[in-house]
Amino acid sequence: MKKGTRAHSHGWLVGIAGLVVGIALMVWFPKLEAVAGVLLLVALFHLVGIAIVFGSVYSFAPERFGRLMERFRRRAPDAAGFDFGWSWGAINGPWLAAVAFLTIAFGLQLEWPGLWPAWFLVALLGVNSFIGGLLLRSSKTEGLASLPLVDLLRSDEDLVLDAGCGGGRTTLELSKVLGGGSVVAFDRFDAYYIDGGGRTLLERNLRIAGLGARVQIQQGDLTTLPFADAHFDSAVSAHVIDHLKQHKKAALTEIRRVLKPGGRFLMVVWVPGWATFSLANVFCFLLTSKAGWRRITRDVGFTIRDEGTFNGMWFAVLERPEGDGA
Ligand SMILES: C[S@@+](CC[C@H](N)C(=O)[O-])C[C@H]1O[C@@H](n2cnc3c(N)ncnc32)[C@H](O)[C@@H]1O
Repeated sequence: MKKGTRAHSHGWLVGIAGLVVGIALMVWFPKLEAVAGVLLLVALFHLVGIAIVFGSVYSFAPERFGRLMERFRRRAPDAAGFDFGWSWGAINGPWLAAVAFLTIAFGLQLEWPGLWPAWFLVALLGVNSFIGGLLLRSSKTEGLASLPLVDLLRSDEDLVLDAGCGGGRTTLELSKVLGGGSVVAFDRFDAYYIDGGGRTLLERNLRIAGLGARVQIQQGDLTTLPFADAHFDSAVSAHVIDHLKQHKKAALTEIRRVLKPGGRFLMVVWVPGWATFSLANVFCFLLTSKAGWRRITRDVGFTIRDEGTFNGMWFAVLERPEGDGA
């Protein structure tokens, strides 16, 4: 370990351990208030020291600050070598929120112990965010139910559209049931939350999976698909249509247009519920409900063949009706 890193680690360790032990002593052993006071003082001294070092070194040497931020964004591919572009910061976001909530709850409990409903509620939010972190980590790996097992494909030779493929997690899952078919992996490749928009990652992941020859990558917008009517046998789209705000109907209409009559479309979206509450807190109530999705998909002319929940998310198997020529 480099000398500077060792100094930081020492500062963090003494600072955080001192804070935790000092606060715990104050709460549970009030007679040891003097010891707790000294510990808290030493801890704060170290944390303020780190803040000053960070503030001064990184303002005088911005390239070091850039390197630090780079470390925060760095990702580690999963065991098979697949990398879907999720940074350390993105994956651990709910856990950082959990630490913040629990710290606030602890502070409230110390300062206003009688106000227990308030700190208890904040502590519950902390636990909720911790569970959200667990869920997020499990769903960001390739093997874990990126797609539910459903009756989607028409034959072993299907041409399938992966609408909003990102780094290719859904494309790879699809390949497991594809038989001799092929996929068009379609995306705008400009998502700020996927490293480089996802195209390079997608190419790399397909190479690792040995799928390069069976997947054609195409860039474009879902609301104006560059394909002829009835071009695809089937389609999937996971965690995409729910990102489209007022363009949901336009994208769904396009997907229905490029599907052959009788072709099926597997759509996976976030809906309000416990899983999304653990990830997005009260903001999950801004999401479109299951009833809302049923209405929108029927409005654009799909028939709902199946629906269910997996990993806390909602999926629907939608069909363009046979004889639908419009
Ligand atoms: C959350 S990612 C999901 C990626 C992948 N389906 C998965 O489950 O890992 C959403 C993807 O949708 C893409 N996307 C969002 N709006 C789009 C649009 N209007 N046209 C094409 N792609 C879009 C983004 O670029 C991003 O790659």
